Amino acid sequence: MSRTPLIVRNVPALRRALDGLRAKKASVALVPTMGALHDGHMSLVRQAQRRADKVVVSIFVNPTQFAPTEDLDAYPRTWQEDVAKLATENVELIWHPDTKAMYPAGFATRIVPEGAATVGLEDRFRPHFFGGVATVVAKLFTQCRPDVAVFGEKDFQQLRVVAQMARDLDLGVRVIGARTVRERDGLARSSRNVYLSDEERRVAPVLYQALKQVAARLRAGGKPEAAIAGGARMITAAGLALDYLELRDAETLAPVTASKGNGKNAARRLLVAATLGKTRLIDNIAV
Ligand code: PAF
Repeated sequence: MSRTPLIVRNVPALRRALDGLRAKKASVALVPTMGALHDGHMSLVRQAQRRADKVVVSIFVNPTQFAPTEDLDAYPRTWQEDVAKLATENVELIWHPDTKAMYPAGFATRIVPEGAATVGLEDRFRPHFFGGVATVVAKLFTQCRPDVAVFGEKDFQQLRVVAQMARDLDLGVRVIGARTVRERDGLARSSRNVYLSDEERRVAPVLYQALKQVAARLRAGGKPEAAIAGGARMITAAGLALDYLELRDAETLAPVTASKGNGKNAARRLLVAATLGKTRLIDNIAV
């Protein structure tokens, strides 16, 4: 059964709607998105349904996390389809502010995350990114005051940054990571996959293939440097420009080197970013 969610576009209306839910003692889960919803987002929504009585999805293409050279204007916007998809998932409310509601004239505050936001992965290539994400997510959390919020593991560094921020600022939100949803050939679902030409789409799964190959070598006791060099060759041979392929501590995202070990039992994460044509793709897996 599908039911169109309540669509809210300004903060006072949001407060009223959420106060109504809380008066009924409903717990609330928030799924922050930038729209262009795909199966990956839908799995976040389903995860949210399992964690709380009511699900709020925010749709806001956040300008402060895009550099002037990036794809803010071109970013896919599919509002009607997004609403239809969320209606089939029994979402209670869509929080869809415009830029003026989120950043009114004179807005002058920015959160500057450290820790996982400065470990030299995405932050090295998109220095503005985590400040923009942390600022908008802090706003979303204080606007919606959810009990839990669900983020995809596909943006693994983002997940760690947001979780740390929620803890550091006592925002009272439990941040939950949800597994990456993949196409049949392994390509991680992403709103940006629509940018890929047919030929690029055919090549793109090499990222996941390389991650799997490197992870298998590492699990079999292979040396990180050699395994990673092999994965990097695979990616560049397929014609992608590699930004990084790195093994990190899964919690802190600190580098894992042979000399430092990081302990046999510490969870590790292998993270990759590469550009294919004009499209920058990221992915990661547990090791
Ligand atoms: O992952 C995203 O879609 C965005 O970075 C987020 C978390 C919605 C913040 O704008």
